Amino acid sequence: MAITGQFLVLFIVIHMLGNSSIFIPGGINAYAEHLHSLPPLVWGFRGIILVVAAIHIIFGVQLSLENRAANADSYAVKNLKRATLSSLSMLYTGLLLLTFIIYHLLQFTIHATPDVVMGIDAQGRPDVFHMVVGSFQHGIIAFIYIAAMVTLFMHLAHGIQSFFQTMGWNNDKTLPVIGKIGKVVAVVLLLGYASIPLFIVSGILKG
Ligand code: HEM
Repeated sequence: MAITGQFLVLFIVIHMLGNSSIFIPGGINAYAEHLHSLPPLVWGFRGIILVVAAIHIIFGVQLSLENRAANADSYAVKNLKRATLSSLSMLYTGLLLLTFIIYHLLQFTIHATPDVVMGIDAQGRPDVFHMVVGSFQHGIIAFIYIAAMVTLFMHLAHGIQSFFQTMGWNNDKTLPVIGKIGKVVAVVLLLGYASIPLFIVSGILKG
């Protein structure tokens, strides 16, 4: 869980940096064209992330269900109750994120949702900029994305701290510091991602 989770965090950081190129004129179209100019790399990467995500989800669901079963009769014990609640919230936020990712792939990778208009820009490149701006101009889609980013924040704020605990790098002294680091990283990702639909739906960033 911990290793696959860190790999997914790495992807999420890189994806946020790539997406931020939307704030530079022509940036996101150049970035997307660059990425797609190397098909073996793109497909190799997609294969790896699919396997890593599948392992993370299968073990995550299993772990949450085991925790719940083990603690079902132990609610008098405070620590166990807390552990059960946090693992349950990881299960729910994780499943919500999975639903979001399926929707997100149908939208921006497969272009199967009705809001998506994929044209060609003045340089003959796939116009990812207008595709994203056109979608996020719908208030409901911007809202879905912002809600998904809040869910991502909740999942990561706990998940990053859990990673250190699993690796045995956590103790009573470092726990509050590591908890804070996890939250800071999660806040930076929340702001980085949510700023895109926010800037578009508010009309600050337009096509
Ligand atoms: C404002 C937020 C986001 C924007 C604007 C955005 C934008 C995009 C775009 C434009 C693509 C298609 C790339 C291409 O095929 O050229 C994409 C793909 C993808 N996104 Fe996002 N994304 C956002 C958030 C997220 C989040 C939070 C996750 C994961 C938790 C995520 C996971 C993915 C994945 C797995 C792909 C498929 C990559 C591939 O096609 O190989 N995205 N995103």
